[in-house]
Amino acid sequence: MKFEIVRSIRALHAAIARHRSGPLNSSASLALVPTMGAIHEAHEKLIDEAKKHADIVIASIFVNPKQFSQNEDFDNYPKSEEQDIEKLKSKGCNIVFIPNIDLMYPKDFDLNISVPKLSSVLCGKSRPHHFEGVATVVTKLLLLSNADYAIFGEKDFQQLLIIKSLVKSLNIPCEIISIKTVRENNGLAISSRNTYLSEKNKKIAREINISLKDAIKNYKNKNSVSEIIHYIKEQFLIKGIKNIDYIEIRDETNLNALNNSIQNARIFIAVYIDNVRLIDNMKLIID
Ligand code: PAJ
Repeated sequence: MKFEIVRSIRALHAAIARHRSGPLNSSASLALVPTMGAIHEAHEKLIDEAKKHADIVIASIFVNPKQFSQNEDFDNYPKSEEQDIEKLKSKGCNIVFIPNIDLMYPKDFDLNISVPKLSSVLCGKSRPHHFEGVATVVTKLLLLSNADYAIFGEKDFQQLLIIKSLVKSLNIPCEIISIKTVRENNGLAISSRNTYLSEKNKKIAREINISLKDAIKNYKNKNSVSEIIHYIKEQFLIKGIKNIDYIEIRDETNLNALNNSIQNARIFIAVYIDNVRLIDNMKLIID
């Protein structure tokens, strides 16, 4: 199948139709991998996963202004379109959809998809309209591509739950599939934002994963949830991570606070290292 780069809705639909009319015929299944570009190893793993499920794989590259607030890094978000296309092509992606802002948000655009309860905690608290921006753009991408599957990473666990919820609520006929967080050998969760970190700060960032893993080990010695949070906070401070947005342990199925039960417990953290916002999460009991 020919690799295609498309920048309009008409071209996207034509490319999908061409792929479907090829040797695979009209019953060929389609998987979408939405990204904001700056393609890295984790995005490549999403493509691998997409290929396991579907005959045709579409990746989208769109740095979505609606999910950035004014003081965030929209203007400086890393851009590397040519390299991104090469990487996606060599991974076996069939179609890359690269819409521009006017295409996604024409002048009279007046819609907000909101998943209020799941968006009210964790990152939603410090990034008030972020998840509306994510939900709105992902809904558009799912409807535009008519994908049978869409693949997301557990690194953005709250985002993943919000997308699963909106798909269910809107009855969008697309199965949401997730992959585990992809990490560097030293445990640091791979992120486009890691490129903002100096070598010194990267070293500090690696301590996030070490602290979470240590905390889980300690948990096995029967510490309470608040003790685990306290332990992580202490470790972060010792290791030079002083700007902590949140460290919380919540139910991973609905993000509810945990009472006494630790069933479905997952640790969620967000910190700033030299103004770079990093997030991570880990299941409390390693399964
Ligand atoms: P972006 O940050 O480019 O991430 C695209 C996809 O890659 C998301 O599903 C994200 O969870 C996944 N991902 C990123 N780093 C990962 C890692 N280390 N391990 C596993 N998966 C990882 O997330 C977005 O873009 C946007 O919000 C988007 C969904 C495209 C909507 O604009």
